[in-house]
Amino acid sequence: MRGRDVISILEFTRRELETIFEEADRMLEVAKRGADVLRGKIMATAFFEPSTRTKLSFQAAMLRLGGSYVDLPPEHLSSRAKGESLADTIRMLDAYADVIVVRHRAEGVAKFAAEIADAPVINGGDGTRGHPTQAMVDLYTIRRELGRLDKLVVGVLGDLKYGRAAKSFVLGISKFEPEKLYLISPQILRPREDLLEYLSEAGVEHEVVEDLRSVLPELDVLYVTRIQRERFPDPLEYERVKGSYRVTADILAEVKDELIVLHPLPRVDELDFSVDSTRHARYFVQASYGVPLRMALLKLVLVGG
Ligand code: NCD
Repeated sequence: MRGRDVISILEFTRRELETIFEEADRMLEVAKRGADVLRGKIMATAFFEPSTRTKLSFQAAMLRLGGSYVDLPPEHLSSRAKGESLADTIRMLDAYADVIVVRHRAEGVAKFAAEIADAPVINGGDGTRGHPTQAMVDLYTIRRELGRLDKLVVGVLGDLKYGRAAKSFVLGISKFEPEKLYLISPQILRPREDLLEYLSEAGVEHEVVEDLRSVLPELDVLYVTRIQRERFPDPLEYERVKGSYRVTADILAEVKDELIVLHPLPRVDELDFSVDSTRHARYFVQASYGVPLRMALLKLVLVGG
C-alpha cells in the first residue's frame, strides 16, 4: 500500500481492508506507548470544510507514530484568499509534506489533488461523494465490537442522498456480503439510483424503506446519520424534512441484544442522548477507533507493511 492514494473505499479489496484492520489492532497497543515509525515524516492537512474528528484523529495518529503535521489555515487566512488556485495550493502541500489529507465541499477534489501531487493523497471527505477513511473506521468498529463483518443485517438510517459517510459505509459493508442491507430514509433523502444500481450489480441483498421500526428487530447494526443541511440546494426542502426521524432509547426496546448503534458524528437531533446509556451505543468508541485506524493507514501508505 506504500505510496497509495486513498480516494474511494471501492478501490480497496476486502483483503486489503483486513490488512488495515490487523494493523489497526496492533496500533491500539502502540498508541498507548507511542512509536517512532513515522519519525521525520510530515503530513499536511488541508480541510476546506468543518471537521473535528477526521482532522484531529489524523493529526493525533501522526503524532502517536512520531511524525508531525502542518495544517493549511482556513481559506480566508491562506493564500487562497489572495486568489491562489487550488492546484497551486496542492503543489505547495506536495512540496512540504509526505502525505496530504484533503477535505473539500466539491466532489472529486481529492482525485484532482492526487493527479497533481506526487505524495499520496487521502480523501477526508469530498462533497456528497465519499469519505473512505470514515468507512474504514466504521467497519473496524463493527469488526471489534461484534467480532465479525460478514453476513450481518445492517440498517443505514438518514440522509442517504447527500451523506458521504453513509454512502461510503454502504459501499464498504457491501464487500462483506451482508445478509440484508436496509436503506432507511424519508422519501426525499432516498439513495440515488447509482448507489442502488451498484448494490444490485454487486448482488447485495438490499431494500429501501421509510420506516425504521418495521425493520429494527432484525438488525445487527444500526448506522444513524444526520441530515446534511449544508448540502441542500433549497433551504425549504430541508425545513420539510428536518426532525423526520429520531432514534431514542425507547424505540430500542425490542431490538436484538447484541445490536450496535453507530453514528459517524456529529449528531444533531436524530440520535437522542437517551441512547448513550444503552448497551447498544458504540458511536463514541467508534470515534475513538479513528486514531488507531488512521495510524494504521498512515503507516501503510508512508512506509508499507
Ligand atoms: C461526517 C462527514 O464529514 O462527512 N463527519 C465525520 O467525518 N465523522 C459526517 C457528517 O458530517 O454528517
